[in-house]
Formats: sequence, C-alpha cells, structure tokens
Amino acid sequence: MTNAHQLLIIVGSVREGRFGPTVAEWVAARARAHGAFDVEVADLAGVELPLGLPAVPPKYAGEQYPRPAGMAPLTAALDRADAFVIVTPEYNHSYPAALKAAIDWHFTHWTAKPVAFVSYGGAAGGRHAVLHLENVLTELHAVTIRDGLAFPAYYHNWRDGEPLDAEAAGYAKTLLDQLAWWAGALRTARAAAPYPA
Ligand SMILES: Cc1cc2nc3c(=O)[nH]c(=O)nc-3n(C[C@H](O)[C@H](O)[C@H](O)COP(=O)(O)O)c2cc1C
Repeated sequence: MTNAHQLLIIVGSVREGRFGPTVAEWVAARARAHGAFDVEVADLAGVELPLGLPAVPPKYAGEQYPRPAGMAPLTAALDRADAFVIVTPEYNHSYPAALKAAIDWHFTHWTAKPVAFVSYGGAAGGRHAVLHLENVLTELHAVTIRDGLAFPAYYHNWRDGEPLDAEAAGYAKTLLDQLAWWAGALRTARAAAPYPA
C-alpha cells in the first residue's frame, strides 16, 4: 500500500457528442498535479451497463453477484479506489441513467469511501444532479464531500478544455484537499475495523 490515495474519476455522461470527458480530463489533470492521488478515469460509455438487474440485490450477493463481463473493469476500479470524483451533467434536474445503473450494480464498493462531485449544465451548474447523488450515495454508506465544483452555462464558460473562471483551479484544490483528508481517514478506519454495514 502506497501513501497515495487511489482516486477513480467517473465520467457519468454517455451521450453522443457529450461534454463530460472535457470536464473529466481537466479534473484528472488537477488531481494528478495535486500530489495526493494515483488517478484513474472510468468512462461509463465504455462499460456494459444493462438496466435489468439480477434478482438478488448486490448488497446481499457479495462476490457472487452475476455482473456482465463488460462491467468487470469498472467493478475492479471501484473496488481498488479509496476515493471517487463523479463528473456529472444534469438531465431533467437529475443525473444520467448510466450513472444510476453503475451505482445500482454495486454496493460494498462505495462503503465508507469518500465521493466528491464535479457538475456542469445550464443555470444551476448541475447542482440538482448532485443533490440527488448525495442522497443516493448515503444509502450505500459512502461519505459525500461538502465542497463541490459546479460549472453553470459551461457552453459559454469553457474554452480549449479549460474553464474561463480563474478561481476554478482554486476550488478544485479545496475539493481535492477535502477528498484526500477523507480518503486517508476512511482508509485507516476501514483497515482498523470492518465497517458495521
Ligand atoms: C435529456 C436532457 C435533459 C437535460 N436537462 C437539463 C436540466 O435539467 N438542467 C440543465 O442545466 N441542463 C439540462 N440539459 C442540458 C445538459 O446540461 C447539457 O446537454 C450537457 O451538455 C449534458 O452533458 P453531456 O454533454 O456530458 O451529456 C439536459 C440535456 C439532456 C440531453
């Protein structure tokens, strides 16, 4: 085990012509420069994510949960991560269905791990999506990070893969500082005693 925290950045949009990877690449660059993380990116567009779930919930099936072969790399990445950044747009005041499917196909992979959010969209900057994600991830015993990064009207406020807001990098640093603190605290706690879920 190294001192660096294993960070998984999840690209939540799978839409044709999506903006999500641009945001995720910018966040990944910030996270690599931060110094506290080994960074991986999981793009849900490349994951087999059927909406039909098996009969038994993943919470009870454990390792025996029958996931499709094309989901295995995502499952392994979720498993080895000790922190997450979810990059999400806002669809009809919530988050994309692919992201919900990725969450619902897993359970223990989120337990006692911190999750930070980077959102984008119209006037609300994707914050409606984040409010829903915070609610859902609490059910999975994840710990959501207070400071999110939201990009309103991203179509006006980004150029050449970068946000025009000069303060965005500073906000990202704060988010990553908080995520690193929780990643370390929760990794130590998970190693000391099983989480009583
Ligand atoms: C089905 C759908 C619903 C949307 N609903 C909202 C919304 O409620 N609020 C918002 O700010 N933007 C909304 N948008 C606009 C998205 O924020 C915008 O299309 C964004 O580019 C989506 O992210 P993506 O390109 O990574 O898929 C919606 C877009 C789609 C496709």
